[in-house]
Amino acid sequence: MLTQLALLVSLLTIILREAICLKVGVAKVDATLPVGVPLAGYGERRVPDWPLAKETKYTTWMLPSTGHLTPTWVKALVIDTGDEQICFVTVDAIGSDGTLAELAYDIATSKGFRIPFDNVAMFGSHSHSGPGAITPEFLWAVVPATDLLVPELQEMFATSIANAMLQAQENLQDGTMGIDIAQLKGVTRNRRAGVSPYLHEDDIDPNLGVISVNDGDGKPLATVWNYAIHGTCWGSSQLLSNGDIMGGVNDVLETMNSGVAMFINADAGDISPGGDTCSGEPNFQGAPVIAKAVMDARNNTKMSDNVEIRVATQVVPFGETNLNLTFARVENCTSGGPVDICSICKVLNCDVNLHLNEAWVEQNPKFGAFAFNIDGTNTGMVTIPGEALSDLGTEIRNDLLNMKFDNVLLGGYSNNHMGYFATEREYDVGGYESLLTFWGVDTAERIRTNCTLVAKKVAP
Ligand SMILES: *[C@@H]1O[C@H](CO)[C@@H](O)[C@H](O)[C@H]1NC(C)=O
Ligand SMILES: *[C@@H]1O[C@H](CO)[C@@H](O)[C@H](O)[C@H]1NC(C)=O
Ligand SMILES: *[C@@H]1O[C@H](CO)[C@@H](O)[C@H](O)[C@H]1NC(C)=O
Ligand SMILES: *[C@@H]1O[C@H](CO)[C@@H](O)[C@H](O)[C@H]1NC(C)=O
Repeated sequence: MLTQLALLVSLLTIILREAICLKVGVAKVDATLPVGVPLAGYGERRVPDWPLAKETKYTTWMLPSTGHLTPTWVKALVIDTGDEQICFVTVDAIGSDGTLAELAYDIATSKGFRIPFDNVAMFGSHSHSGPGAITPEFLWAVVPATDLLVPELQEMFATSIANAMLQAQENLQDGTMGIDIAQLKGVTRNRRAGVSPYLHEDDIDPNLGVISVNDGDGKPLATVWNYAIHGTCWGSSQLLSNGDIMGGVNDVLETMNSGVAMFINADAGDISPGGDTCSGEPNFQGAPVIAKAVMDARNNTKMSDNVEIRVATQVVPFGETNLNLTFARVENCTSGGPVDICSICKVLNCDVNLHLNEAWVEQNPKFGAFAFNIDGTNTGMVTIPGEALSDLGTEIRNDLLNMKFDNVLLGGYSNNHMGYFATEREYDVGGYESLLTFWGVDTAERIRTNCTLVAKKVAP
C-alpha cells in the first residue's frame, strides 16, 4: 500500500512537472513616425516665431523633426506560465501614457490579443528624442515638452504598439527565463548634486536588473535590462528622432546575441548619464560599457522553466494637482531644462497653487506589481507612473526587500506619466524636479505607499 502510494505520488509529481511549461514570445516593431513630428522632451525645441509660424501639419509650437537617426522601436515580451500571462511593452519614448496604452490595448484585443489589461505594463524608455504629439495631456503639450496631440500620429503609434503585442503573443513558444541583479557604477551621476545639499554626484541607483529569456534550445530570445538613467545624451538642438543612450545600448546588445533587447527605466528622476557615457556620439562610449554589464549579468543567470508569476494592479485616484509655484521653491531652478518652469514662474509671479484636472495631467495611475518565483527565488517588480527620484526608489526597493522578495525591479516611467516624484526632503530643497512634483510635499510618500500596497498583494 505504502509503495503504491509512493508510486502514485511520484507519478503525480512527474505529471505536474510536465504541466509546468513556460511559454515565451517576443516581438520588435519599427514604430518610427513620419519626419516632421515634434520630438518629445526638451522645452527649448519651440518655434522661435510662434504663433506667426506653424512649421508642419504635425507640430503646433514645437520644431518638427528633420529625420531619423535610429528607428523608434516598440518591443513586447509575453510570458505565459499556464496559470498567468503577462505582457511587457517597451517604447522608445519620453514616457508611458495611459490614453495611448488603452488605445493600443483596444486595437490589440480587436485583433485577438488575449491577455488582460491589468497584466500588461507599458514602459517609456525616457529618450528625449522620441515622438511627441501622441498624448493628450495639455500640461506636457504646453510647457512645451510633447506638443499638441495629433490624433493621426497617436493612432499610428498605438497601432505599432498593438502589433508588437499581437506578434509577441503569436510567437509564444517553449522557453526558459531567469533574473539577475548586478551593480553598475561610473556611467551615471546625480544631477541634483549642487542643487541639493544632501546629494553627491555618486548618489545614483547602481542596480542593474536583467531578465533573460531563452527559447527551448537555450538560444537567447530577449534580454530586458532595468536601470536608472535619463535619456539626455542628445541635447535639445538635435532634431533627428532616436532612442538616445538606452536605444544605443539596445543596439549593441542585439549584436552581442542578447535576442531582442528591451529597456525598462527605474528611479531616474535625478539620474543623468555621467562620466564618458555620452561621448563619441552617435555611438555613445557608454553604450558598449552598459551592454557588457548586461551581458555579464545574463551569463550569470540561471535559466529555468519552473516559473510562477503573480500579478496585482490598483488604479489610484490622485485628484487635482497641488502645483505649488511659490517662488521660494524656484530659487535654484535650473533654467533651460526640458520644461522652463523658471521662466513660466517669472511670468506668473509664482505665488499660486494650481489645481489642474486630468485634462492637464494624468491623475488616475495604474500601479502594477509582478512577482516572479523562479526555482524558489522571488523577484518583485512594481511599476511607478513617472519619474521617481533615486531616494524614493531606494525606499520602495527596501519596502519590497522587507516583504521577503529576494530581488527587486523598479519599473519607472510606466503605464502613466505624472511628472517627478521628489521626496519631502528634496521637495523642500526646491529646484526643477521639485517644481515638477505636482501633488505637493507628500506626493512621493503617496506613490511609495501605493507601490507598497500593490506589491504586498503578490509578496512571497
Ligand atoms: C557570455 O558567455 C558567452 C558564452 O557562454 C561568451 O561567448 C560571451 O563572451 C559572454 N559575454 C560576456 C559579456 O561575458
Ligand atoms: C495612495 O495614493 C492616494 C492618492 O494620493 C492617497 O490618497 C492614498 O492615501 C495613498 N495610499 C496610501 C496607503 O498612502
Ligand atoms: C508652497 O511652498 C512653500 C515653500 O516651500 C511653502 O512654504 C508653502 O507652504 C507651500 N504651499 C502649499 C499650498 O503647499
Ligand atoms: C539656493 O542656493 C543657495 C546657494 O547654494 C542656497 O543658499 C539656498 O538655500 C538655495 N535655495 C533653495 C530654495 O534651495
